[in-house]
Amino acid sequence: MAYTNVWLELCGGICVDRIQIEGNVPLCGKIKVQGAKNGALPIMAAAVLHRGMTVIKNCPRILDVEYMSEILRELGCLVWREDSALFINAENVDGGIVRSEYATKLRASVILTGSLLGRCGRAVLPYPGGCTIGMRPIDLHLKALTQMGAEVISAEDGLMLRTQKMRGSTIEFPFPSVGATENAILGAVLAEGITVLQGCAVEPEIEELCRFLCEKGACISGIGSTQLVISGVKKLKDSVHRLMSDRIVAGTYLLAAAGTRGSISLYDVCWEHLRYLLRTLSDAGAQISAEGSEIHMDAKQAVYPVKCLVTRPYPGFPTDLQSQMMVFLSRARGISRIEENMFESRFQIVEELKRMGADIEIEGNCAVIRGVSNLKGNFVRARELRGGAALVSAALMAEGRTILSGTEYIRRGYEDIVRDYTQLGADIKETG
Ligand code: EPZ
Repeated sequence: MAYTNVWLELCGGICVDRIQIEGNVPLCGKIKVQGAKNGALPIMAAAVLHRGMTVIKNCPRILDVEYMSEILRELGCLVWREDSALFINAENVDGGIVRSEYATKLRASVILTGSLLGRCGRAVLPYPGGCTIGMRPIDLHLKALTQMGAEVISAEDGLMLRTQKMRGSTIEFPFPSVGATENAILGAVLAEGITVLQGCAVEPEIEELCRFLCEKGACISGIGSTQLVISGVKKLKDSVHRLMSDRIVAGTYLLAAAGTRGSISLYDVCWEHLRYLLRTLSDAGAQISAEGSEIHMDAKQAVYPVKCLVTRPYPGFPTDLQSQMMVFLSRARGISRIEENMFESRFQIVEELKRMGADIEIEGNCAVIRGVSNLKGNFVRARELRGGAALVSAALMAEGRTILSGTEYIRRGYEDIVRDYTQLGADIKETG
């Protein structure tokens, strides 16, 4: 494949994955949204609790699922795919030890701690990886699991916990951590007695995890609320589960289409999970209708700024759509403000956007965005998952050509962003 000399020079003479986009083309068309990454990963971790079969339908073909599959194989699971379904046979899981370097590539590996303690009485794993969007401590995970009877043997250069038997307890979360809630749920499912979790996160992916576990024979009440009551059971059963669609991928596509002033329809989506975004886009001037599992949006008039948008735990505006929203607002007719409250380093794309002509100033955890007429294509680099997807949106909107590198970050959470945007009429291709 021929690379321009400029690119080979810029990339130090090595071939790297890149996407080339000729922007300023309104996105139009209809597209199905993939299964939820942040639904699939905790459910894959939960499959370890069962000495048998789990089938996950509508499972996205993304790197994070591949990484988690490798980790499960190292634990002794058989993991394979048949079309969009992922099959997991966890008959032979006994060691509870994860050495795989894959565990350092994603945040969700830490959620195996609860299920390995429940299944094997032991959990040995590297510290989790994932996007560099903040410190991302796991103190709340460990506090909950130790309250249920786990003992932290070591937490120096990795996690080593053990337990005679997990036992029910009442746990109060100081704030709604998604991962800590999921880890505590998995630690409680096979525990002795009743666990009461208070102050839980209520993201749709947690509700789905609870429904998945009940399909397998777990005993959970309060699903969808901030208080979950889990009565430990002796064992689980084989099950088949169809994953809900990915609300963050859906929101990414809506914001990209709105930035290009396009008109798209999404199907196989749960619009109820996107209420805040849909309201915000409507306030910005988009025409939106949603019924059943479809969302229709005409964004030709989506030109108004957003006075102040604050990221919050669900059902607030999701931090995972913050970068994509910033890109959309970079050409609004006025000044917008975004306040990022969830992660301390989630404005990483601002410098790249400014190189494309955006007018954005950072004041603490706030971004002040002064809309410009449009962005200009440039060479940009993705440094994390959602910021990378947002830079693709910026390139789709911008006048001229953009070459984006660092696409491996995007493939962690998006099945095939080039395929999907091509289907919506974009001039986009992989160049290496
Ligand atoms: C999940 O991460 C998601 N990841 C993230 O999506 C998402 O941004 C985040 O929830 C918030 O919605 C997965 O589900 C795999 P948290 P998680 O625990 O569980 C602090 C994506 O792009 N905290 O709710 O790590 C933490 O530092 C990813 O798909 C502690 O202080 O999020 C953060 O500031 C990015 N101590 C805040 O809580 C803890 O023990 C929210 O984190 C745990 C978290």
